[in-house]
Amino acid sequence: MNAVYPILRVKNLKKEYSMGLKSTFKVLQGVSFIATLGEIIILMGPSGSGKSTLINLLTGLEEPTEGSIEVKNQNIFGLHDNMRTELRRDNLGIIFQFFELHNGLTCRETLELKLLINKTDCNNESERIFRLLEEVGLQEKIDTFVDQLSRGEKQRLAIARALVSDPHIIFADEPTGALDFETATEIMALLRIIVKKKNRLLIISTHDYNILQDGDRVLVLEDGKILKDLPSISREDFLQSNGIEEYTLEV
Ligand SMILES: Nc1ncnc2c1ncn2[C@@H]1O[C@H](COP(=O)(O)OP(=O)(O)O)[C@@H](O)[C@H]1O
Ligand SMILES: [Mg+2]
Repeated sequence: MNAVYPILRVKNLKKEYSMGLKSTFKVLQGVSFIATLGEIIILMGPSGSGKSTLINLLTGLEEPTEGSIEVKNQNIFGLHDNMRTELRRDNLGIIFQFFELHNGLTCRETLELKLLINKTDCNNESERIFRLLEEVGLQEKIDTFVDQLSRGEKQRLAIARALVSDPHIIFADEPTGALDFETATEIMALLRIIVKKKNRLLIISTHDYNILQDGDRVLVLEDGKILKDLPSISREDFLQSNGIEEYTLEV
């Protein structure tokens, strides 16, 4: 597989929620794009624009009302449940805003649990866990409990967990949303190194303009549609070209 392999094809994705008997709320209104290995895509949109909904569909957590998502040429919603589970487990890694870790586990146990859930076959589990933690710079915290980690370290551990099955596609839903500026910058740099080194696809949802520069491409989501598909752009150029004067941080 080379760098231009279109690993993900999203076609006319729609998601509606019914609101009582007759009305529906249209969260996504026809989202289409193709993504290739090696790309870092920033899904930029204000709060409520449908970013998490889109990530939940792309990761197979929720079903679309209409449209299709093809991972490696397989429509994930055309597959039987167990096949879909397998496809998701082997190909997709997910990172969340609030880490979604268990406080009562150590870093090692967090990854052991994920290996167990994934039923990942590995000859030397301890070695694999050490390498994963090393990749995110947490090897010295291997026996530290999650609740003793800083927020940045928690997100590093969540990244290691997302990499357990060595997935081709990594999704991150507002991965810097709970981090300060400096830590967010470090986390983005780490994600960039990993993705470029391994030639993976990374899709990040955010409303944080500061991380725009870390993307290769920006999809601007508004009212459930992709308004723009831009090449890499700086925070300043993005704000200027969109007529945004004041930057207000939403949490
Ligand atoms: N299960 C649901 N039922 C009804 N409305 C929902 C549901 N999930 C999300 N929404 C609505 O869809 C819109 C987009 O939500 P979301 O995808 O979480 O946006 P974002 O992640 O960009 O903030 C919001 O208006 C939200 O209230
Ligand atoms: Mg969200």
